[in-house]
Amino acid sequence: ATKIIMDTDPGIDDAAAITIALNHPDLDLQLLTTVAGNVTVDKTTLNALKLTRFFNSNVPVAGGAPQPLLKPFEDAVRIHGVSGMPGYDFPTDLADPLPQTAVEALRDYILAADKPITLVPTGAYTNIALLFKTYPEVLPHIKEIIAMGGALGKGNMTSAAEFNVFTDPHAAEIMYQSGVPITMVGLDVTMKALLTPETMAKLTTVGRTGEMLHALFAHYHDGGQAGIPMHDVNTLFYLLHPEAFTTEKMWIDVQTDGPANGETVGDIRGAYHDGQTNATVCVDIDAAAFNDWFLTTVAAIG
Ligand code: BDR
Ligand code: CA
Repeated sequence: ATKIIMDTDPGIDDAAAITIALNHPDLDLQLLTTVAGNVTVDKTTLNALKLTRFFNSNVPVAGGAPQPLLKPFEDAVRIHGVSGMPGYDFPTDLADPLPQTAVEALRDYILAADKPITLVPTGAYTNIALLFKTYPEVLPHIKEIIAMGGALGKGNMTSAAEFNVFTDPHAAEIMYQSGVPITMVGLDVTMKALLTPETMAKLTTVGRTGEMLHALFAHYHDGGQAGIPMHDVNTLFYLLHPEAFTTEKMWIDVQTDGPANGETVGDIRGAYHDGQTNATVCVDIDAAAFNDWFLTTVAAIG
Protein backbone atom coordinates (compact mmCIF):
# COMPACT_ATOMS: atom_id res chain seq x y z
CA ALA A 1 0.00 0.00 0.00
CA THR A 2 1.16 3.54 -0.77
CA LYS A 3 1.84 5.68 2.31
CA ILE A 4 -0.02 8.95 1.93
CA ILE A 5 -0.89 12.07 3.89
CA MET A 6 -3.96 14.06 2.85
CA ASP A 7 -4.19 17.80 3.44
CA THR A 8 -7.84 18.72 3.00
CA ASP A 9 -10.73 21.17 3.47
CA PRO A 10 -13.83 18.96 3.76
CA GLY A 11 -15.96 19.89 1.85
CA ILE A 12 -18.16 17.36 0.12
CA ASP A 13 -15.77 16.08 -2.56
CA ASP A 14 -12.98 16.06 0.06
CA ALA A 15 -15.25 13.87 2.21
CA ALA A 16 -15.53 11.38 -0.64
CA ALA A 17 -11.75 11.39 -1.11
CA ILE A 18 -11.12 10.96 2.63
CA THR A 19 -13.62 8.09 2.68
CA ILE A 20 -11.58 6.25 0.07
CA ALA A 21 -8.21 7.15 1.62
CA LEU A 22 -9.34 5.79 5.01
CA ASN A 23 -10.57 2.50 3.58
CA HIS A 24 -8.79 1.52 0.37
CA PRO A 25 -6.50 -1.49 0.88
CA ASP A 26 -3.87 -0.05 -1.49
CA LEU A 27 -3.63 3.23 0.45
CA ASP A 28 -1.99 3.61 3.83
CA LEU A 29 -3.22 6.94 5.17
CA GLN A 30 -0.87 8.17 7.89
CA LEU A 31 -2.33 11.55 8.77
CA LEU A 32 -5.11 13.95 7.82
CA THR A 33 -4.38 17.66 8.04
CA THR A 34 -6.91 20.41 7.50
CA VAL A 35 -6.88 23.89 6.09
CA ALA A 36 -9.30 26.78 5.64
CA GLY A 37 -10.95 26.55 2.23
CA ASN A 38 -14.46 25.39 1.53
CA VAL A 39 -15.32 26.38 5.11
CA THR A 40 -13.30 27.73 8.05
CA VAL A 41 -10.57 25.51 9.49
CA ASP A 42 -12.47 24.80 12.71
CA LYS A 43 -15.19 23.28 10.54
CA THR A 44 -12.86 21.41 8.16
CA THR A 45 -11.15 19.89 11.22
CA LEU A 46 -14.49 18.90 12.73
CA ASN A 47 -15.56 17.38 9.41
CA ALA A 48 -12.38 15.33 9.15
CA LEU A 49 -13.03 14.04 12.68
CA LYS A 50 -16.63 13.17 11.75
CA LEU A 51 -15.29 10.95 8.98
CA THR A 52 -12.65 9.20 11.09
CA ARG A 53 -15.40 8.57 13.67
CA PHE A 54 -17.84 7.28 11.02
CA PHE A 55 -15.28 4.69 9.96
CA ASN A 56 -13.97 4.05 13.51
CA SER A 57 -10.53 4.93 12.21
CA ASN A 58 -7.66 6.04 14.41
CA VAL A 59 -5.90 8.02 11.68
CA PRO A 60 -4.88 11.27 13.43
CA VAL A 61 -6.23 14.66 12.39
CA ALA A 62 -4.30 17.91 12.82
CA GLY A 63 -5.85 21.32 12.27
CA GLY A 64 -3.92 23.75 10.10
CA ALA A 65 -3.87 27.25 8.69
CA PRO A 66 -6.93 29.39 9.42
CA GLN A 67 -6.27 31.69 6.48
CA PRO A 68 -4.21 31.96 3.30
CA LEU A 69 -0.63 33.28 3.49
CA LEU A 70 -1.41 36.77 2.21
CA LYS A 71 -4.91 36.96 0.76
CA PRO A 72 -8.05 37.41 2.81
CA PHE A 73 -9.97 34.16 3.31
CA GLU A 74 -13.03 33.49 1.12
CA ASP A 75 -15.05 30.32 1.70
CA ALA A 76 -17.18 28.23 -0.68
CA VAL A 77 -20.28 27.70 1.45
CA ARG A 78 -22.45 28.35 -1.61
CA ILE A 79 -21.14 25.03 -3.00
CA HIS A 80 -20.59 22.96 0.17
CA GLY A 81 -23.16 24.39 2.62
CA VAL A 82 -22.53 26.25 5.87
CA SER A 83 -21.13 23.18 7.68
CA GLY A 84 -19.13 21.94 4.67
CA MET A 85 -20.67 18.46 4.98
CA PRO A 86 -24.46 18.94 5.02
CA GLY A 87 -27.20 16.34 4.74
CA TYR A 88 -25.99 13.54 6.99
CA ASP A 89 -26.16 13.16 10.78
CA PHE A 90 -22.70 12.08 11.86
CA PRO A 91 -21.99 10.83 15.39
CA THR A 92 -21.16 13.67 17.76
CA ASP A 93 -18.78 11.85 20.14
CA LEU A 94 -15.70 12.86 18.19
CA ALA A 95 -12.02 12.32 18.94
CA ASP A 96 -9.80 15.33 19.59
CA PRO A 97 -7.41 16.59 16.95
CA LEU A 98 -3.68 16.22 17.62
CA PRO A 99 -2.23 18.86 19.93
CA GLN A 100 0.23 19.97 17.20
CA THR A 101 -0.75 22.19 14.29
CA ALA A 102 -0.87 20.65 10.81
CA VAL A 103 2.58 21.99 9.93
CA GLU A 104 4.21 20.41 13.00
CA ALA A 105 2.33 17.15 12.49
CA LEU A 106 3.30 17.04 8.81
CA ARG A 107 6.94 17.49 9.73
CA ASP A 108 6.80 14.80 12.44
CA TYR A 109 5.01 12.20 10.31
CA ILE A 110 7.05 12.84 7.17
CA LEU A 111 10.37 12.61 9.03
CA ALA A 112 9.23 9.52 10.98
CA ALA A 113 8.12 7.54 7.92
CA ASP A 114 10.41 4.67 6.91
CA LYS A 115 10.23 5.66 3.23
CA PRO A 116 9.36 8.81 1.26
CA ILE A 117 5.70 9.67 1.51
CA THR A 118 3.13 10.88 -1.03
CA LEU A 119 1.31 14.11 -0.19
CA VAL A 120 -2.22 14.56 -1.46
CA PRO A 121 -3.46 18.14 -1.01
CA THR A 122 -7.11 18.67 -1.88
CA GLY A 123 -7.55 22.18 -0.47
CA ALA A 124 -5.52 25.38 -0.64
CA TYR A 125 -1.79 24.66 -0.31
CA THR A 126 -1.24 26.95 2.69
CA ASN A 127 -0.07 24.21 5.08
CA ILE A 128 2.21 22.73 2.43
CA ALA A 129 3.85 26.11 1.73
CA LEU A 130 4.31 26.83 5.45
CA LEU A 131 5.79 23.35 5.92
CA PHE A 132 8.28 23.75 3.05
CA LYS A 133 9.40 27.21 4.23
CA THR A 134 9.57 26.33 7.94
CA TYR A 135 11.01 22.82 7.73
CA PRO A 136 12.78 22.43 4.35
CA GLU A 137 14.43 19.28 5.75
CA VAL A 138 11.20 17.41 4.90
CA LEU A 139 11.65 17.94 1.15
CA PRO A 140 13.84 14.88 0.42
CA HIS A 141 11.39 12.72 2.39
CA ILE A 142 8.48 13.50 0.07
CA LYS A 143 8.15 11.11 -2.84
CA GLU A 144 5.66 13.19 -4.76
CA ILE A 145 2.67 15.50 -4.50
CA ILE A 146 -0.60 14.67 -6.20
CA ALA A 147 -2.57 17.89 -5.93
CA MET A 148 -6.13 18.74 -6.82
CA GLY A 149 -6.18 22.26 -8.16
CA GLY A 150 -5.52 24.53 -11.08
CA ALA A 151 -6.52 24.32 -14.73
CA LEU A 152 -4.93 24.79 -18.12
CA GLY A 153 -8.39 25.77 -19.38
CA LYS A 154 -10.93 27.92 -17.65
CA GLY A 155 -11.37 28.30 -13.91
CA ASN A 156 -14.32 27.68 -11.61
CA MET A 157 -13.79 30.59 -9.23
CA THR A 158 -12.95 33.23 -11.81
CA SER A 159 -12.63 32.73 -15.55
CA ALA A 160 -8.94 32.11 -14.98
CA ALA A 161 -8.65 30.49 -11.55
CA GLU A 162 -9.61 27.23 -9.91
CA PHE A 163 -10.79 27.49 -6.27
CA ASN A 164 -7.87 25.83 -4.40
CA VAL A 165 -5.23 27.87 -6.20
CA PHE A 166 -7.37 31.02 -6.13
CA THR A 167 -7.75 30.65 -2.34
CA ASP A 168 -3.98 30.83 -1.78
CA PRO A 169 -2.01 31.56 -4.95
CA HIS A 170 1.15 32.46 -3.02
CA ALA A 171 1.13 29.04 -1.38
CA ALA A 172 0.61 27.41 -4.77
CA GLU A 173 3.59 29.30 -6.15
CA ILE A 174 5.79 28.05 -3.29
CA MET A 175 4.61 24.47 -3.83
CA TYR A 176 5.25 24.54 -7.57
CA GLN A 177 8.73 25.99 -7.02
CA SER A 178 9.67 23.44 -4.34
CA GLY A 179 11.37 20.92 -6.63
CA VAL A 180 9.18 18.06 -5.36
CA PRO A 181 7.62 16.08 -8.24
CA ILE A 182 4.01 17.33 -8.60
CA THR A 183 1.07 15.96 -10.51
CA MET A 184 -1.58 18.57 -11.16
CA VAL A 185 -5.05 17.05 -11.09
CA GLY A 186 -7.02 20.09 -12.16
CA LEU A 187 -10.31 21.07 -13.71
CA ASP A 188 -9.10 19.87 -17.13
CA VAL A 189 -9.85 16.34 -15.91
CA THR A 190 -12.15 16.77 -12.91
CA MET A 191 -14.79 18.53 -15.01
CA LYS A 192 -14.72 15.62 -17.47
CA ALA A 193 -15.02 12.81 -14.92
CA LEU A 194 -18.47 13.77 -13.66
CA LEU A 195 -20.23 11.33 -11.38
CA THR A 196 -23.29 10.55 -13.47
CA PRO A 197 -26.90 10.47 -12.20
CA GLU A 198 -26.81 6.69 -12.83
CA THR A 199 -23.79 6.19 -10.56
CA MET A 200 -25.32 8.55 -8.00
CA ALA A 201 -28.56 6.49 -7.93
CA LYS A 202 -26.63 3.23 -7.44
CA LEU A 203 -24.78 4.68 -4.43
CA THR A 204 -27.86 4.21 -2.26
CA THR A 205 -27.84 0.46 -2.93
CA VAL A 206 -24.28 -0.42 -1.88
CA GLY A 207 -24.30 0.02 1.91
CA ARG A 208 -23.88 2.67 4.61
CA THR A 209 -20.88 4.40 3.03
CA GLY A 210 -22.78 4.84 -0.23
CA GLU A 211 -25.79 6.14 1.70
CA MET A 212 -23.66 8.66 3.58
CA LEU A 213 -21.97 9.93 0.40
CA HIS A 214 -25.29 10.05 -1.45
CA ALA A 215 -26.74 12.24 1.32
CA LEU A 216 -23.80 14.65 1.08
CA PHE A 217 -23.86 14.70 -2.73
CA ALA A 218 -27.56 15.60 -2.66
CA HIS A 219 -26.52 18.86 -0.95
CA TYR A 220 -23.59 19.63 -3.26
CA HIS A 221 -24.07 22.69 -5.45
CA ASP A 222 -21.51 21.91 -8.13
CA GLY A 223 -22.11 20.46 -11.57
CA GLY A 224 -25.42 20.08 -13.38
CA GLN A 225 -27.63 17.60 -15.18
CA ALA A 226 -24.76 15.64 -16.68
CA GLY A 227 -23.38 14.92 -13.22
CA ILE A 228 -21.33 16.27 -10.33
CA PRO A 229 -17.56 16.80 -10.29
CA MET A 230 -15.68 14.70 -7.73
CA HIS A 231 -12.59 16.95 -8.00
CA ASP A 232 -10.59 15.74 -4.98
CA VAL A 233 -11.36 12.06 -5.56
CA ASN A 234 -9.53 12.23 -8.88
CA THR A 235 -6.20 12.53 -7.03
CA LEU A 236 -6.63 9.05 -5.55
CA PHE A 237 -7.94 7.66 -8.83
CA TYR A 238 -4.74 8.97 -10.44
CA LEU A 239 -2.58 7.47 -7.70
CA LEU A 240 -4.16 4.04 -8.12
CA HIS A 241 -5.01 4.13 -11.86
CA PRO A 242 -2.64 6.44 -13.75
CA GLU A 243 -3.44 4.45 -16.91
CA ALA A 244 -6.88 6.10 -16.98
CA PHE A 245 -5.25 9.52 -17.47
CA THR A 246 -3.42 11.33 -20.25
CA THR A 247 -0.69 13.59 -18.88
CA GLU A 248 1.79 16.16 -20.17
CA LYS A 249 4.94 17.38 -18.48
CA MET A 250 5.35 21.14 -18.40
CA TRP A 251 6.26 24.08 -16.21
CA ILE A 252 3.44 25.50 -14.11
CA ASP A 253 3.63 29.12 -12.98
CA VAL A 254 1.03 30.67 -10.71
CA GLN A 255 -0.45 34.10 -11.22
CA THR A 256 -0.46 35.85 -7.82
CA ASP A 257 -2.17 39.16 -8.62
CA GLY A 258 -4.34 40.98 -11.11
CA PRO A 259 -7.49 39.76 -12.82
CA ALA A 260 -5.99 36.31 -13.50
CA ASN A 261 -5.00 35.93 -9.83
CA GLY A 262 -4.85 32.23 -8.98
CA GLU A 263 -4.45 31.03 -12.55
CA THR A 264 -2.05 28.15 -13.18
CA VAL A 265 -0.14 29.11 -16.31
CA GLY A 266 1.18 26.03 -18.11
CA ASP A 267 4.19 26.56 -20.37
CA ILE A 268 2.47 24.50 -23.08
CA ARG A 269 4.98 25.46 -25.77
CA GLY A 270 7.93 24.63 -23.50
CA ALA A 271 9.56 27.83 -24.69
CA TYR A 272 9.31 30.20 -21.74
CA HIS A 273 11.10 27.78 -19.39
CA ASP A 274 13.49 26.33 -22.02
CA GLY A 275 11.87 22.91 -21.92
CA GLN A 276 12.25 22.56 -18.15
CA THR A 277 9.27 21.11 -16.33
CA ASN A 278 8.05 21.15 -12.73
CA ALA A 279 4.78 19.25 -13.09
CA THR A 280 2.95 16.37 -14.67
CA VAL A 281 -0.38 17.83 -15.73
CA CYS A 282 -3.46 15.64 -16.17
CA VAL A 283 -5.10 16.66 -19.43
CA ASP A 284 -7.57 13.85 -20.11
CA ILE A 285 -9.34 11.09 -18.19
CA ASP A 286 -11.47 8.03 -18.85
CA ALA A 287 -14.71 9.25 -17.27
CA ALA A 288 -16.51 5.90 -17.53
CA ALA A 289 -13.62 4.13 -15.82
CA PHE A 290 -13.75 6.73 -13.05
CA ASN A 291 -17.46 6.10 -12.46
CA ASP A 292 -16.96 2.31 -12.38
CA TRP A 293 -13.99 2.58 -10.03
CA PHE A 294 -15.77 4.98 -7.68
CA LEU A 295 -18.86 2.83 -7.35
CA THR A 296 -16.88 -0.40 -6.93
CA THR A 297 -14.61 1.21 -4.35
CA VAL A 298 -17.48 2.60 -2.27
CA ALA A 299 -19.36 -0.72 -2.52
CA ALA A 300 -16.28 -2.60 -1.28
CA ILE A 301 -16.17 -0.39 1.83
CA GLY A 302 -19.76 -1.43 2.54
C1 BDR B 1 -11.83 22.34 -5.44
O1 BDR B 1 -12.44 23.41 -4.72
C2 BDR B 1 -13.14 22.90 -3.61
O2 BDR B 1 -14.37 23.55 -3.46
C3 BDR B 1 -13.28 21.43 -3.84
O3 BDR B 1 -13.31 20.72 -2.60
C4 BDR B 1 -12.08 21.08 -4.65
O4 BDR B 1 -10.96 20.81 -3.83
C5 BDR B 1 -12.40 22.31 -6.84
O5 BDR B 1 -12.09 23.49 -7.52
CA1 CA C 1 -11.21 20.37 -1.50
